[in-house]
Amino acid sequence: MLAAFEAAKGFMPVDEGLALYAAAVTAGRLGLPLLEVGTYCGRSTILLAAAAREAGVSAVTVDHHRGSEEQQPGWEYHDPGLVDPEVGLMDTLPSFRRTLHAAGLEDQVIALVGRSPRAAALWAAPLGLVFIDGGHTDEHATADYEGWTPHLADGGLLVIHDVFPDPADGGQAPYRVYLRALDSGRFEELSVTGSLRVLRRTPPR
Ligand SMILES: C[S@@+](CC[C@H](N)C(=O)[O-])C[C@H]1O[C@@H](n2cnc3c(N)ncnc32)[C@H](O)[C@@H]1O
Repeated sequence: MLAAFEAAKGFMPVDEGLALYAAAVTAGRLGLPLLEVGTYCGRSTILLAAAAREAGVSAVTVDHHRGSEEQQPGWEYHDPGLVDPEVGLMDTLPSFRRTLHAAGLEDQVIALVGRSPRAAALWAAPLGLVFIDGGHTDEHATADYEGWTPHLADGGLLVIHDVFPDPADGGQAPYRVYLRALDSGRFEELSVTGSLRVLRRTPPR
């Protein structure tokens, strides 16, 4: 699993990946699906899928596969190899499918191709884990938080990537969502690894 993770295109370092995997294994014990917002090329999906396989649950991953703002041409995280030459837009879906196939994890994963708030609006099942790593603007990160966390079961885990308390280290939208979760009184912090935060959903007081 780790070799497949390291071979996949993506931005998550190994220490954060291991923390995400540990959270997914813990959450998998609830026997509920594990959900990811922000599939990209499947690097982090591999970890959720491996944990889902151990737990006998599904990993669900949502992405429109057209890339976030910072992945567009001319921006810092653009990869020209991920542009579909026929339509001239980013398309990470083929790379994602190759990643999952190479990892032997296709059977564990349900990929939703579309906008996260639209998928969340249709969703009705309780979730064991919500991993937020989609768009990093306030609009997108807030919509992901508001759309998916209501489906998180008590005891389920909320994992947020790219949480940077210091603006010098990165954008602040995921950090604001993280603070909002803690302020809600419905989450307690379990771990901090690099920019990855793991929170547990607590029952209402
Ligand atoms: C930082 S990348 C995800 C990286 C991935 N989790 C990994 O570790 O390899 C963010 C992804 O979110 C997707 N995205 C951004 N906004 C979205 C939205 N509103 N709905 C669905 N996907 C979105 C982008 O297309 C992009 O692939």
